Amino acid sequence: MLRSRSLAVAFMPLVVARPAFGLVTRPAGAFARASRALSSQQRAQPQMDLLSRLAGPVLGAAVGAIAGSALTKRPEEGFTMADQVARFARHKATNNRRALDIDAFYDGSLLKGKRVLVTGGNRGVGLALARQAKADGALVIVTCRKSSPELDALGVEQVITGVDVTKEEAMPILTQALSGKPIDIVINNAGYFYEPVETLSSLNYGEQLKMIDICALGPLRISAALVNAGLIKPGGKIAMITSQGGSVSWRDVQNPEGHDYGHHMSKAAANMASKLLAKELTSKQIVVLILHPGFNKTDMTAKYKEIWEKEGAVDVSVGAKRVLHEVNVGSMATSGKFINCEDGLQIPF
Ligand SMILES: NC(=O)c1ccc[n+]([C@@H]2O[C@H](COP(=O)([O-])OP(=O)(O)OC[C@H]3O[C@@H](n4cnc5c(N)ncnc54)[C@H](OP(=O)(O)O)[C@@H]3O)[C@@H](O)[C@H]2O)c1
Repeated sequence: MLRSRSLAVAFMPLVVARPAFGLVTRPAGAFARASRALSSQQRAQPQMDLLSRLAGPVLGAAVGAIAGSALTKRPEEGFTMADQVARFARHKATNNRRALDIDAFYDGSLLKGKRVLVTGGNRGVGLALARQAKADGALVIVTCRKSSPELDALGVEQVITGVDVTKEEAMPILTQALSGKPIDIVINNAGYFYEPVETLSSLNYGEQLKMIDICALGPLRISAALVNAGLIKPGGKIAMITSQGGSVSWRDVQNPEGHDYGHHMSKAAANMASKLLAKELTSKQIVVLILHPGFNKTDMTAKYKEIWEKEGAVDVSVGAKRVLHEVNVGSMATSGKFINCEDGLQIPF
């Protein structure tokens, strides 16, 4: 239990409710603040049910008065909350349909006929992204080191094996396999999280460099190879799947005791690479989205199994729709912003 708590604190938010939870009463003006907390992005969602949007903040205000500080601590407008336990509780208390029912928002027809490339699509979130995009009528290209029986059974447009994102020599394998046909959407999904918790007494520098290589340099290698080969045209999109673990600002809440140096450094580096990529590709009119995919039940998070339900972990089929929804609504206006795919709100860097 000690192990799981420290791991969970390091990767995700706090496992245990803070002492303040339930102790602070909601101040006056709660309704106004709850209303303001609906982001402009949420307001812009065409399919959003007006009634639940209005009822949500009212319910949230009522629950917040009882539940206390975790729900009343409002993030800056347009930004989501660092504390995942409180965030999930707030989504439920305010009946946040974007967070709780992605099917009400998801429009798969936007992917029809699009050429979508997913790295690390042989399992986990990547496989689910490939499955969903294929179901939506996209022409899906998966890159991986090695295929899997599940990927083989999916029957996507193309599987390009031998693409280790840490190997520069693998980039020509990728670009040549695409035979000059441009990609509309690239999803840099491949990632790695070393299993044991890292503290000052258990640092593993080799593993740290490996995580940085896979999670930060990897998506940069893939993106550069594709852009330099002219395989992403103006209007194309690159989705960088990073992690909330890469938010330096959120470490005070999510890692009050430190830990997990390598993983979080790798994702912070990925965020920086993504931001710079967004800047450099603005002149080419290529959108770069920086996405936290939410908490998904995969091999990577199996070490947090006991908190999956408590902290709102979802099946990858849900996680994939959340990511693809953000890809679909992403534009030059949101290029370079760091978005939480759970609720569509921003995460501070
Ligand atoms: N699951 C979550 O809750 C969560 C939360 C935040 C962020 N993320 C991010 O979301 C992405 C997908 O995570 P996941 O949970 O699906 O992880 P996962 O189940 O562990 O799958 C990781 C994928 O990355 C691939 N990969 C690892 N190293 C690679 C390399 N050197 N070259 C090419 N591919 C490589 C793996 O391929 P092999 O089969 O060859 O190893 C696998 O396909 C990752 O970037 C992860 O950091 C996930």
